[in-house]
Amino acid sequence: MRLFLDTASVDEIRAAAKLGVISGVTTNPTLWAKAGGGNYRDIVVEICNIIDGPISAECLSRDVEGLVKEARQVASWHPNVAVKIPIDEAGLEATSRLSKEGIKVNMTLVFSPNQALLAAQAGATFVSPFVGRLDDVGHDGMQVVADTVQVFERYHLPNQVLAASLRHPLHVIAAAKVGAHIATMPYSVLMAMLRHPLTDVGIERFLADAKKAAKAARGTGKA
Ligand code: E4P
Repeated sequence: MRLFLDTASVDEIRAAAKLGVISGVTTNPTLWAKAGGGNYRDIVVEICNIIDGPISAECLSRDVEGLVKEARQVASWHPNVAVKIPIDEAGLEATSRLSKEGIKVNMTLVFSPNQALLAAQAGATFVSPFVGRLDDVGHDGMQVVADTVQVFERYHLPNQVLAASLRHPLHVIAAAKVGAHIATMPYSVLMAMLRHPLTDVGIERFLADAKKAAKAARGTGKA
């Protein structure tokens, strides 16, 4: 399972990129606003220059022609841009047209396996079930990811299941266990995956013991 960062913060993306474990980025208008706004195109292009992988940028038009026009424009910003389009009638029709032009679509705001199947048939490269938002309203978000993976595998569909709206490290590991192709997560979740108190304690102990050993070696004239 590939790991994407779910943020529009260039600072977070730079910090995560150094770790060498992130292979794409998802942004949305909420994340863009949270990161302080600015010119969306410039931010997306900057992200493309940091991470060499799919970078999702949201389209805001609400009708088919507007979406197709906007998506073509957004996709022209950089070859790695995937246009993010919410699933509804206009989104599906636009995705069918755009995918035939070779434009990568990330079909977003997916909340059921039925929506996921429609997104796949329309040719979306990435299909994004929103786990956390389903959990928030008392549904099992990860089950939608699991069902979607099962259906795509059953019919050998080439579309990738991108588990989104992940809120904590358990979501990431659950997405991996049910076979999601990609998990996109906030920087805080990536850091929570990395850190473990026993690792910190272990490092401290190794350093302290190495110091002791060096001191003992100096005492015996072996260092
Ligand atoms: C990513 O593509 C989604 O926009 C994002 O994961 C949504 O996350 P949220 O539900 O925490 O806002």
